[in-house]
Formats: sequence, C-alpha cells, structure tokens
Amino acid sequence: MNEEMRKYFSPPDLKAAKKRGKEEISVLEFDTIPPEMKNIGVGKKYLIRTFGCQMNVHDSETMAGILEQMGYEATEKDEEAAVILINTCAIRENAEDKVYGEVGRLKALKTEKPEVVLGMCGCMSQEESVVNRILTKHQHVDLIFGTHNIHRLPHLLFEALMGKEMVVEVWSKEGDIVENLPKVREDGLKAWVNIMYGCDKFCTYCIVPYTRGKERSRRPEDVLAEVRELARKGYQEITLLGQNVNAYGKDFTDREYLFADLMDDVRQIGIPRVRFTTSHPRDFDDHLIDVLAHKGNLVEHIHLPAQSGNSDILKIMARKYTREQYNDLVHRIKRKIPDAVLTTDIIVGYPGETEEQFQDTLSLMEEVEYDTAYTFIYSPREGTPAARMKDDVPMEVKKERLQRLNRLQESISRRKNEELRGQEVEVLVEGESKKNPDVLSGRTRTNKLVNFRGPKHLIGQFVQVRIDEPKTWTLSGTLVGETQIGQVGG
Ligand code: 5AD
Ligand code: SF4
Repeated sequence: MNEEMRKYFSPPDLKAAKKRGKEEISVLEFDTIPPEMKNIGVGKKYLIRTFGCQMNVHDSETMAGILEQMGYEATEKDEEAAVILINTCAIRENAEDKVYGEVGRLKALKTEKPEVVLGMCGCMSQEESVVNRILTKHQHVDLIFGTHNIHRLPHLLFEALMGKEMVVEVWSKEGDIVENLPKVREDGLKAWVNIMYGCDKFCTYCIVPYTRGKERSRRPEDVLAEVRELARKGYQEITLLGQNVNAYGKDFTDREYLFADLMDDVRQIGIPRVRFTTSHPRDFDDHLIDVLAHKGNLVEHIHLPAQSGNSDILKIMARKYTREQYNDLVHRIKRKIPDAVLTTDIIVGYPGETEEQFQDTLSLMEEVEYDTAYTFIYSPREGTPAARMKDDVPMEVKKERLQRLNRLQESISRRKNEELRGQEVEVLVEGESKKNPDVLSGRTRTNKLVNFRGPKHLIGQFVQVRIDEPKTWTLSGTLVGETQIGQVGG
C-alpha cells in the first residue's frame, strides 16, 4: 500500500468493533454537493449493481440520489456507464464469490475503457482481507468505500476521477447517522425507510455487527418527517428497515421511545401499508404486539428469524433466547393477531449440530407453521467467533439437512396457501407479471405474490382478488373489484 492509499485507508478492526462503547452518536447533515463536483456527471451515466439485503438495496437508492445530484443519469447497460458501483454483500461465502465474479468480469471492460470508474462498496469493503485482495489482485478497481462512507461519495468519486491511484476510504469507526441524504426510489409505490443502522447482537456466526457498525437509531422526528413526505408523494407502502428493528430507540439517551412507540406514530400517518424488517425475537415486546394488533395499515406479517429450533445451538449462536422463549413469543403474537403470517430465517449445519438438534429445527418449523422460510447452510465468516469453532458436520450432511428442511417448508407453504383457495384478498397491484405481460401481479398484506388478469390502469391501486389457484410460492386468482385507497389503513 503506498502513501497515497494509506491516507484514505484505516483498516477495519474486528476486535475494536467488539469492544464498542457508549460513545455519543453524532447526527450529521448531508452537505449539498460542492460546486466543483456538481456537474461532473452531466451527459454521463451510472450503473449500480446491488448484492444482498434490503439495506443494501436502499443504500443503492441513496448512492443513486447522490450521483443524480452530480448530474449522472441511470443506465442498466455496462457499456453505457461512466461510473459502475458494485454494492457488495458479505453475509455468506457464496455472496462474496458472486461479487469477485462480477469484479473479474468487469476487468475486460476496464481494459477497453480505462476512463470508466469502477467502484466497490457495501459490506465486503468493511473487511480488511477483502480490501487487501482487491489491492493486490484486482487493481482495475478504482475506488473502494465502506458502509459508513456513502455520504462521502461525491468527494471520493472526484478523487478517483482526478488521481491515478486506487482510492480507498473505509471508516471502521462505529458510524454516525447522516440525515438529509438524497434518494432515488425504485418506484412511486413502495419505499424503504431506514429507522436504524448497525447491530450490537453479535450472533456468533454473523459478520453484520462488524460491517455495519454499532446499533444507532434515527431520531423519531426525522423518520416521521420522511414517512410524511412519502405519504404526501403518494407512496402506498413503506418498509421500516433495520438489522434489528426491535432494538430501535434503546440507544437514545435523551428520551424513552422504542420501536412500538415509533410504529404507533407511523401508523397514524396513514400510508396504506406499513411493514418492517428484521425482527430479533429477543427484543420483541408485548407493547409492540399490542400496537401491531391494531392492524389497519400495520400488516399482519412478521418476519421472525429463528435460526434454529434447538436451545443448545441457539446458545452457541448467542441468540439469547431458547426454543421455549421463541415459541412463547409466537403464541403471544398469535393470541393477539390470530391471522398473523410468520416467516423466518434458518441456518443448518452449525458447527457441531447433531441430527437430533437438527430435528428440533424441523419440529419448530412444523409447530410454528411459517408461510415462508429463508434457509441457509452455515458459512464461516472470518473474524466471527463461530469461524473458530470446531465443525465436524460434513458438507454432504449439511446439504442433505438443507434439502430436508426445504422439503418440509414447501409442504407447509403449500398447505398455508391452499387455505386461501376461494378467499378474497386485498392486493396492491405492482405491475405486469414478469412471465406474462397480459397478467398483472401484486402482493397481499402478508406479502404473497398474486397473479391475475385485469386492465393496466389498476397498476398502483388496491384491488380485491379471489384466489382460484394457490401454488407453493405464488397465488393466481380473479379480479373481483377495486378497493378505494382511502378505505385501507388509517
Ligand atoms: N452463514 C449462514 N447464514 C447466515 N446468516 C447470517 N450469517 C450467516 C452465516 N455466517 C443468515 C441468517 C440471517 C440471514 C440474513 O442470513 O439466517 O438471519
Ligand atoms: Fe447478524 Fe444476529 Fe445482528 Fe441479525 S441480530 S444482523 S443475525 S448479529
């Protein structure tokens, strides 16, 4: 690493991240773009390729917002782009492999058009080993910046355009909150809204607390102002985003205001549908269940990652709840919200997981009856405690467990969807079906995809659809009527 790079690069320090303290979190305001950078994108195009979770998808919307303020326009085509950013995911090894594949693929384009700026950002940039690998093996990359440096994009891009060296800026510091960031949202219908950043849970398998910094909540007035603005612009659905939304507000030192309070205030703004993700079962309290039980625009869908159905595995995962506590929470939710649809995340093949322990996960799946489950084979992440654990579960066994788990979930999903046969559901029409432009598609309150035939002017509206053909992952039905937007939510 030469001096120029050293100036920008402070290596991520996993040990320091784990010792994080109670330092004040600063709320910064995003500056307007400095005059010398304001028009550098005029007549040029940008492309952002996003890997990973909704947080990354939303970060990409922020980066798009910044680039458009600099004059750039969006493109989907590599060959048209003057700036290409790869927003990366570090959650599992296969996610990282995909990113390396993409970085490698773009080498030919960079050789042909050296003036194109190729940047890498997102969670992988927070890993020291990744940055070193890019510095040594992928020198066609011009710019690397971390998850805490997004608001610095104008300056970093400017440096990359002016200099010949690779620009690297990765702040391993815990992270502040930057307000007022511009955003280009996917469509005018559904919007992501960050309510908090980072994670302090340190589940033993997970890289997120290191790549995303410490838990810090946006002030309620800032979140509510953003939601009001989205309502004013006619958005029909919002999803409140955080790695662990149930920890919202726990970091406030000047007030007592938690996630349930925020949901209660958000629901009164009157956006027709309000979702949130992701919940951590440990912090999910009864006040929140009571608020969600108001229903209306708070939809009856809760994503509640279990990770495992065995208390010993949960313990070594440091999930901080037992199977019994998880089940108790599920029962409390179902008692107050009987039609709640639950979905989950599950990891199989944790280091040392026995067949009996895995069977506890199968039985939890049966008991809770999730509508959908996102299932993963455990993937060791450098720097996490689990990566140092002895893992005697052979890969074939892990794969076989994943298949058994998926087969079970498929039969449950099919059974749950079958219950909807003949029923009328409210659908927010999102657009033409990807497979057939004559068919419209949209989502139920519980986020199930519904396909049906109807006129295009219904796109963006709420309609009632009778389900005729439930399948394992989607539903097909017949349009029975339009719903007046004013009638839903409130
Ligand atoms: N290996 C496998 N799956 C993981 N997840 C998080 N870290 C890992 C890992 N190291 C899964 C968890 C989490 C979801 C987003 O990804 O199930 O809830
Ligand atoms: Fe990772 Fe656990 Fe935090 Fe979720 S709660 S982001 S799994 S450490």
